[in-house]
Amino acid sequence: MSAPVQVRERIDALRELLHHHAHRYYVLDDPQLPDAEYDKLFRELQELEAQHPELASPDSPTQRVGGKPLDGFARVRHKVPMLSIRTETDIEASGAHSFDARVRRELGLAESDPPVEYVGELKFDGLAMNIRYENGVLVQAATRGDGEIGEEVTQNIRTIGQVPLRLPKDAPPVLEVRGEVYMSRGDFEKLNESQREKIAKGAKGEKTFVNPRNAAAGAVRQLDPAIARQRPLSFFAYGLGEISAPEAGGPTFETHFEILMTLRSWGFPVSDRTQIATGADELIAFHQAIGKDRDSLPFDIDGVVYKVNSLALQRQLGFVSREPRWAVAHKYPAQEQLTTVQAIDVQVGRTGKLTPVAKLAPVFVGGVTVTNATLHNEDEARRKDVRVGDTVIVRRAGDVIPEVVAVVPEKRHHDALQFTMPRICPVCGSDAVREEGEADYRCTGGLFCGAQRKQAILHFAQRRAVDIDGLGEKLVDQMVEAKVISTLPDLYRLGLANVVALDRMAEKSAQNVLAALEKSKQTTLPRFLYGLGVRHVGETTAKELARHFGKLDSIMDASVEQLLEVPDVGPIVAESVHTFFRQPHNREVVEQLRSCGVTWEEGEPEARAPKPLAGKTIVLTGTLPTLSRDQAKDMLEAAGAKVAGSVSKKTDYVVAGAEAGSKLDKARELGVTVLDEDGLRVLLAG
Ligand code: IVH
Repeated sequence: MSAPVQVRERIDALRELLHHHAHRYYVLDDPQLPDAEYDKLFRELQELEAQHPELASPDSPTQRVGGKPLDGFARVRHKVPMLSIRTETDIEASGAHSFDARVRRELGLAESDPPVEYVGELKFDGLAMNIRYENGVLVQAATRGDGEIGEEVTQNIRTIGQVPLRLPKDAPPVLEVRGEVYMSRGDFEKLNESQREKIAKGAKGEKTFVNPRNAAAGAVRQLDPAIARQRPLSFFAYGLGEISAPEAGGPTFETHFEILMTLRSWGFPVSDRTQIATGADELIAFHQAIGKDRDSLPFDIDGVVYKVNSLALQRQLGFVSREPRWAVAHKYPAQEQLTTVQAIDVQVGRTGKLTPVAKLAPVFVGGVTVTNATLHNEDEARRKDVRVGDTVIVRRAGDVIPEVVAVVPEKRHHDALQFTMPRICPVCGSDAVREEGEADYRCTGGLFCGAQRKQAILHFAQRRAVDIDGLGEKLVDQMVEAKVISTLPDLYRLGLANVVALDRMAEKSAQNVLAALEKSKQTTLPRFLYGLGVRHVGETTAKELARHFGKLDSIMDASVEQLLEVPDVGPIVAESVHTFFRQPHNREVVEQLRSCGVTWEEGEPEARAPKPLAGKTIVLTGTLPTLSRDQAKDMLEAAGAKVAGSVSKKTDYVVAGAEAGSKLDKARELGVTVLDEDGLRVLLAG
């Protein structure tokens, strides 16, 4: 009987969908579906095809092992096909039991027979590699490709420090080592961080990577070895491909474990979590032990692998289709899942950094239920174009904060709104600003903002600022948490009773804290200024500002131009100081500190040589007799003038030399004073 139309249609739809996602995954290294979701569709197709063998088709995604080789790499036919391993669908401990039961049945073992010995390995989440050595020299490295034919990526694999380029003398004349190329989580985070910076600076064609495996795949298949080199990869060996027969100088192995230990002795990294496990119970114990440590491993794994240890038994068990019967992958909960975005909130960190965070429909990912995932910053949120209502891939691996890695575009509602970063701090209402060349918005209400409270107090209290002896992190945490203080000035309103009431605070220590607070009231302007924690104002800048202006009020009221007159103060610092004191909340805190009795000696503004041309705009044109254009410009700027490129009504002087053109005409037309070089020198002399 032929299959119902719905089944045919479903099979066609699944094949098309899987082809599409396999292409994104294997060829473009840019998946749109989490693996777990792909696997689910794949299994559904496998089951339908099994129920309806008449609908089988050689081009079904179920009929191939891996991806298509990329154009651009030479093709390599594997001497020994690179197979895949069957995945135990049951992620509970019982999965190990069923594998052991299957092996025993297939080997014809009775219950009374001794337990089978296995090797437990990690299932690394990278990409399979075949590395070939001839006469002890690395000659070729190839990806798995479709299992029969892979891509030659020798150059890129040579960049992996852990892969030996030469082998010791006792290695056989022909040796193919198989293992996993991967990127550690640390290297992945660093790479994405630097990609985000490049994107923030406007670099074209750069992207962040969804996960370490895709970053590794991208690096391995990078056609430019110089770029591949900047993408740090690692390697673990887990098996063999072709190897010289014993009569041709090859070794004789009896167990898989022996192979791994020999590979280690030849210089290949073999995970030290690899171990022998006898019988199902030890497999379960292994699965549990690794599961417990999964988050703290420095790299991603998606499960463990069990392999029958005896090579003779492996041969006896053989293969079914393209999977060995002697090995199985036993997975852990997926580290990527689909969920929906319910809202996008903006959180403010201790240092004032604003981070957009997606609020998610709760989803079980990487072993925990996740409801929040970071979108990092405005550019990232925009680039990924995450919108409320979207279906997204969430990743949580290790103790890294869960992250939205991509949107599933087909599932977007037509009315979903684009995210925009607020220009106001959601915690305190101060201005949020993004400086040039920076990826993050920051709240400028440092002294007042609830999110930055602890940080602000600690910064103010530190020895190099107003120096409140004994007021460290623990105490500040306690005081803020117990709501004894909420803003800086509250410190100076503390009474003995408040302090003694804190945990583990004896009366003597409480008195010491109060005495330190009292003492700190007498400070200096640079210390106070530094203590306010204005972004970009370090100790040196605070000293320069104090010396230049003499009084705090003058600094608070200074315009950006006036701030720019301070030595070493450039536009970024000037802007930051100006914005800080423009926030009414920050000014209020400063006033309160003063009224609580914090004082310092104020001085006179520094008597500097007055800048004779401050506020004047001057245009240079033509060739001067002795001064070059740059010399003249430097001298004018040093005297406080602004040197402009074109003449307007705002121009105060035009300095004209030989062959002055239209600028001179314009000056005459507008009645702007025109000087020659001598006139310029007179002007500079004040
Ligand atoms: S053994 C015949 N051992 O998992 C067995 N594979 O489908 C061949 N993998 O992409 C593979 N860790 O790259 C083996 N300890 C391990 C592994 C491992 C990760 C990957 C492998 C391949 C897939 C197997």
